[in-house]
Amino acid sequence: MAERRNNEFAIETHHLTRRFGHVVAVDDLNLSISRGEVFGFLGPNGAGKSTTIRMLCGILRPSEGGGTVGGFDIVNEPEKIKRVIGYMSQSFGLYSDLTVEENLAFYSRLYLRDWSVAKQKREAIIETMGFGEYRDQLSAQLSGGWKQRLALACAVVHEPQILFLDEPTAGIDPVSRRVLWDILYDLSQNKGITLFVTTHYMEEAERCNKIGFIWRGRLVACDSPSVIKSRTMTDELLNLKCSDIQKAFELLSKAPDIIDVNIYGDELHIVVPQAREGAETVRRLMDGAGVAVHMLEPIAASIEDVFVSLSRRN
Ligand SMILES: Nc1ncnc2c1ncn2[C@@H]1O[C@H](COP(=O)(O)OP(=O)(O)OP(=O)(O)O)[C@@H](O)[C@H]1O
Ligand SMILES: [Mg+2]
Repeated sequence: MAERRNNEFAIETHHLTRRFGHVVAVDDLNLSISRGEVFGFLGPNGAGKSTTIRMLCGILRPSEGGGTVGGFDIVNEPEKIKRVIGYMSQSFGLYSDLTVEENLAFYSRLYLRDWSVAKQKREAIIETMGFGEYRDQLSAQLSGGWKQRLALACAVVHEPQILFLDEPTAGIDPVSRRVLWDILYDLSQNKGITLFVTTHYMEEAERCNKIGFIWRGRLVACDSPSVIKSRTMTDELLNLKCSDIQKAFELLSKAPDIIDVNIYGDELHIVVPQAREGAETVRRLMDGAGVAVHMLEPIAASIEDVFVSLSRRN
């Protein structure tokens, strides 16, 4: 293992920038992520999340700026970084014609030179992640949730200090996602591993210690979920249930005193400058159009509201 350098941050970047031709995929990114933190990296498609991860893993050279991972320089010490990190890429490469155990054997041997240590770690993972009965099954035959779990196992079999996970739960069912997150929390809390996770699932973002929101390569918010919510959502939010959601949506979308309105199932989330006056405006509009108000109350913003608000605002 590479020695761990004294550095309070697991990950730090300074003016990290990457261009592809005219596209600035990552634009002047400054991040500091403490050891042991669960950091959620959010942003719409094409925002620059995977590009950031690739630079942090020492796979892609920055165009400008730089950073450290585990105390090692991402430009000059990529080989040392590879020894302290695990990386589960967006389309992680499991070998579909290898069994569960053979996949784990491959990845453990990639990082650990000593055969017996590799075998020991692999057995430990098979045990703790519950692969016992699937050991000899081809990975191609696993369900989506188990494939992701195996991909995670392959990324942590060498016990990295810092783990990069690029959309680890994309496309798997809610129960499998919970299971995967339980494993991630265990890695963070009991092994002290720093997690850098990208996700499009807002309830997962809500569970991170810190989240960064990237938009067109720029970091537009970075803090704990509660601080981001209170800082970003300086406006207030109302929840409306009514007799005609479509009509209400159309009316409110056009109303000048309403900042934003979004449909959530059979409810509308309405962003207003101030809850009490906003509620009066909404009631007046609904009365005027003959829409019955079943419920209208102020609610706390979720990370999803913040995500939508930041994306629209930018
Ligand atoms: N190798 C490349 N060559 C050219 N352009 C690239 C390359 N890799 C990424 N890009 C561009 O950089 C931008 C950021 O892409 P990136 O894959 O980092 O986004 P992302 O946030 O991971 O998106 P998603 O949520 O869809 O995974 C996009 O405009 C993308 O087209
Ligand atoms: Mg990506």
